[in-house]
Amino acid sequence: MKIPTLRGRGFILRPIRKNDEKDLIRYLDNKKISRYMTRIPYPYTSSDAKKWTAETTKEQGKKNPKTIVFAIEKNGELVGTVGLFEIKINHRAALAYWLAEPFWKQGIMTDAIHLILRYARREFYIKRFIARTFLFNTGSQSVLLKNGFQKEGLLRKDIRKNGKFYDAYLFAKVK
Ligand SMILES: CC(C)(COP(=O)(O)OP(=O)(O)OC[C@H]1O[C@@H](n2cnc3c(N)ncnc32)[C@H](O)[C@@H]1OP(=O)(O)O)[C@@H](O)C(=O)NCCC(=O)NCCS
Repeated sequence: MKIPTLRGRGFILRPIRKNDEKDLIRYLDNKKISRYMTRIPYPYTSSDAKKWTAETTKEQGKKNPKTIVFAIEKNGELVGTVGLFEIKINHRAALAYWLAEPFWKQGIMTDAIHLILRYARREFYIKRFIARTFLFNTGSQSVLLKNGFQKEGLLRKDIRKNGKFYDAYLFAKVK
């Protein structure tokens, strides 16, 4: 499907491209990011980036994608991503996101999430958004609360990462 470019304050959201690999490796190969992400390994290699961009661009090319990921682009560089997963048209979707460390605490993700929620409501008629965070991810929890999400509960051993199980908080925003 055709994914638009959305304008934020000092950045844009635009579709992922195959040549985003270089920026993904530069910024995602960072323990301070991977520790909060279920599916980002550390170290993050060129083959991880290649595989992910190929899968994501392929899925987005479908008529009814289950996943849509936007690149957060600032000064011509990909500095993060924000995506909708498990999309069920006219019902619900899950959010996942990360931002490169040099850009933290400037309000970027709060704004990026605001934009993607608006887009998802218009394009897919989403009524319920969810996000899951590690219990220790207070930064992500703040961004969700600032966007009107509420904590709905504790999901015990919801995350399995590197052979270990972790509890997660479930956050949701319902229209
Ligand atoms: C979590 C993350 C996306 C936040 O992005 P960001 O652009 O820095 O967030 P914002 O600047 O919009 O911050 C929004 C609020 O959260 C607070 N916040 C952000 N990071 C924080 C942190 N690490 N600890 C505590 N509060 C934090 C900000 O201070 C701000 O609150 P304020 O307006 O009252 O000052 C970013 O730190 C990140 O990518 N982390 C690693 C990956 C990750 O955790 N992804 C989410 C997985 S669920």
